[in-house]
Amino acid sequence: MKKREHWSSTFGFILAASGSAVGLGSLWRFPYYAGENGGALFVLAYLFFTFFIGLPIFVAELVMGRSSQKSPVGAFSDLSGHKQNWKSVGYLCIFSSFIILSFYSVVAAWALNYALMSLCHWTKNLSAQEIRSAFDILYRSGDLSLFWHFVFILLNVGVVYGGVQQGIERWSRLLMQALFWILIGLFVYSSRLEGFDQAWRFVLLPNYQKFAAMSVLKALGMAFFTLSLGLGIVLTYGSYMKREESLLKTAFIICLLNVCVSLLASLVIFPIIFTFSLAPEEGPGLVFKTMPLLFERLNGGILLSSLFFFVLVLTAITSSISLLEVLVAHFIELFSWSRQKSTVIVGISAALMGVPSALAGSKVLFPNWELIYGRDFFHTISDTPDFLMPLGGLFISLFVGYFMDKRLVQEQFFSGSKWHFLFYPWYFSIRCLAPLGIVLIMIYQADPKLLASFFTMIEQNFKGLIS
Ligand code: PHE
Repeated sequence: MKKREHWSSTFGFILAASGSAVGLGSLWRFPYYAGENGGALFVLAYLFFTFFIGLPIFVAELVMGRSSQKSPVGAFSDLSGHKQNWKSVGYLCIFSSFIILSFYSVVAAWALNYALMSLCHWTKNLSAQEIRSAFDILYRSGDLSLFWHFVFILLNVGVVYGGVQQGIERWSRLLMQALFWILIGLFVYSSRLEGFDQAWRFVLLPNYQKFAAMSVLKALGMAFFTLSLGLGIVLTYGSYMKREESLLKTAFIICLLNVCVSLLASLVIFPIIFTFSLAPEEGPGLVFKTMPLLFERLNGGILLSSLFFFVLVLTAITSSISLLEVLVAHFIELFSWSRQKSTVIVGISAALMGVPSALAGSKVLFPNWELIYGRDFFHTISDTPDFLMPLGGLFISLFVGYFMDKRLVQEQFFSGSKWHFLFYPWYFSIRCLAPLGIVLIMIYQADPKLLASFFTMIEQNFKGLIS
């Protein structure tokens, strides 16, 4: 049997795993979610869920990965004593990763496009309306999205082809450090803008009016998405960890880094928005429609805009290579393929799988999709993680909490760690808190109205009690 690859250092692993966590979610979704859901209170809820539900599941995935030394299918199979049902959960992880990679790469392709457009100062002499509609043109073009999607997948294949240390770890280190410095540079710039004062208040001081009980669930979903949980990514990365490393400590550092980047990203974006007196709840169009317009009006806008979209591409790459790695590792284990062969085959399949998403706006493929399903192919598929990730997370927490041998779990938790006393609080979260939280998210996604009426009832009773 081939010897399993390992990270060269804990620092390398931390950067690779934070690379997976920090992505379009932190830079693009987080700021507008915060905007729509009452700013600081949302941030607080997000922090709570990151550390009390996200972190425990993160550790659970690491426990599974390091003890089995396998990727999801092998891990579920080995640790459950080869039970077919649990093995299917591993396949669910593989399936979800594949689906997410296919459209994530299309969004990254747009970011790549905008980075290059910014370098050419594309907004010069365009009206506000023209700048905003450029994204619609890109979306509808099809061929351009397709081309850059292929380029993006090729970049990913280039990284993963090199292996754990020479590919993923080396590139994550480089890209994450670049990302950090650029983001800090952008932050320094934003902190000198007129809108900064209003922005930090918005992000750090609570606004009770906008915060509805439902925002709590959005914060939970957000914590899941940004930590890349429930897909077996963390599990696979954990399988490359050495025994001397503390799972809890490294997981904690990664969660902390992820939170810091999300907050930093908000403190870059909101000052710009407030400087131009726009409303913060701009929605998903924020990054591709509003930001280019605002960059055009700022001093040094071309440079800023190029850096901003470059950062977006960097974070997208460090996330998408983790999705690709889960698939590649799986095929290496299943068919004993070489890493190179597995990477090329999975890369080609992911490129093909992304075609309908890239062409969704052009309606060349599936022209009647929207008519039948209500939204176009891209939007349909890009909603799937909201369901697939919590589902994977639910199975992982139930498996580690109730089915995996407790002695093995404890041994992994203790190995390399001094924080033994945290075992029971963690175990409690895995067995009770996390599954409960996830079930709530899932009910919310299935039928927001059902849960909304339940929450309104609680809110009213609560208000009745205190008045
Ligand atoms: N964590 C990534 C982000 O915040 C998203 C992601 C989800 C990446 C799933 C990989 C897998 O953008």
